[in-house]
Amino acid sequence: MSEPLILGIESSCDETGVGIVRGHELLANEVASSVEQHVRFGGVVPEVASRAHLQAIVPALKRAVATADIDLDEVDGIAVTAGPGLMGALVVGLSAAKALSVALNKPLYGLNHLVGHVAVDLLDHGPLPERTGALLVSGGHTSLLVVDDIATSITEVGATIDDAAGEAYDKVARLLGLAYPGGPVIDKLAADGDPKAIAFPRGLTAQKDLVAHRFDFSFSGLKTSVSRWVETRRRDGDEVPVADVCASFQEAVCDVLTAKAVAMCQAEGLTTLLIGGGVAANSRLRALLEERTAAAGIALRRPRPGLCTDNGAMMAVLGVEVVKRGLRPSSLEIGADSGLPVAKVLV
Ligand code: KG4
Ligand code: ZN
Repeated sequence: MSEPLILGIESSCDETGVGIVRGHELLANEVASSVEQHVRFGGVVPEVASRAHLQAIVPALKRAVATADIDLDEVDGIAVTAGPGLMGALVVGLSAAKALSVALNKPLYGLNHLVGHVAVDLLDHGPLPERTGALLVSGGHTSLLVVDDIATSITEVGATIDDAAGEAYDKVARLLGLAYPGGPVIDKLAADGDPKAIAFPRGLTAQKDLVAHRFDFSFSGLKTSVSRWVETRRRDGDEVPVADVCASFQEAVCDVLTAKAVAMCQAEGLTTLLIGGGVAANSRLRALLEERTAAAGIALRRPRPGLCTDNGAMMAVLGVEVVKRGLRPSSLEIGADSGLPVAKVLV
């Protein structure tokens, strides 16, 4: 049998994504971002995002079909993000996917966005080994996962107890007066700063925390610490060394993420670690993980930075895995679930 040809739709936040994938081969990945419409608010405005999805979805679909050079009725299924994400935004993609499913008479697969961030690496590095560790770092989530099977068996062994890593980047960027989203801006500015300039705290790494929260994260104390440090400077009329603040903040985030990800692999006996989500595009995180996994004898899988942020191809390739396992398609009556837990791959 030939590899499944799957159309994937993503609309959980501010990117309207339509991807087309055959097996693990990427045929098209069209992303229309509404980020510019949110910049002046310093964060995503849900209603603005929903309206932008409504405008962008059909043009993105048309471009993807043209790029992949397929006829829509050749597809074997429609994969779509059913959650987690912004309710009004999710509903747009889900409605489009349902309409396509009915019109083309093809199965619908309502899938988990977070698992899509992990699955996208299959497009770059092929099938996963039997058990893989995954560090999922996005704007809304930060988790350590054990992936026994990408379509059927995912266990969360740790998560943030407050802010997500991407959220911390966005909040720190905001307090420094930098643009939204903060991750890519801080990543760039940090390159010219000294990561050792300021000793910002590493959340949940104290001995007592390593008992109760060994694989959990906390970034809200770090954010507050950066905020206090910057405010003190401003109050004293001193210039804020933005590059040093960015580099030192970034080092604190990446130090904890990498240390806990490697520790989880060692504790669980995992020899492969995969990273996914928007923050996985971060240059320091990628470099530090490379160093620390190599030192620990762990193989590292990093999707290319362009596939780390939200897109439709990640949902399409997760759809391929679900179809290959013969799992039952979703009902046409499924709803969007803004709080869908990571262990629930298929709705
Ligand atoms: O996965 P994603 O595109 O959307 C969600 O599912 O949340 O992640 C978006 C997050 C934002 O917080 C953004 O600031 C962060 O990913 N991000 C980065 C980088 N690129 C995007 N954070 C750090 N460094 C980057 N290069
Ligand atoms: Zn995402």
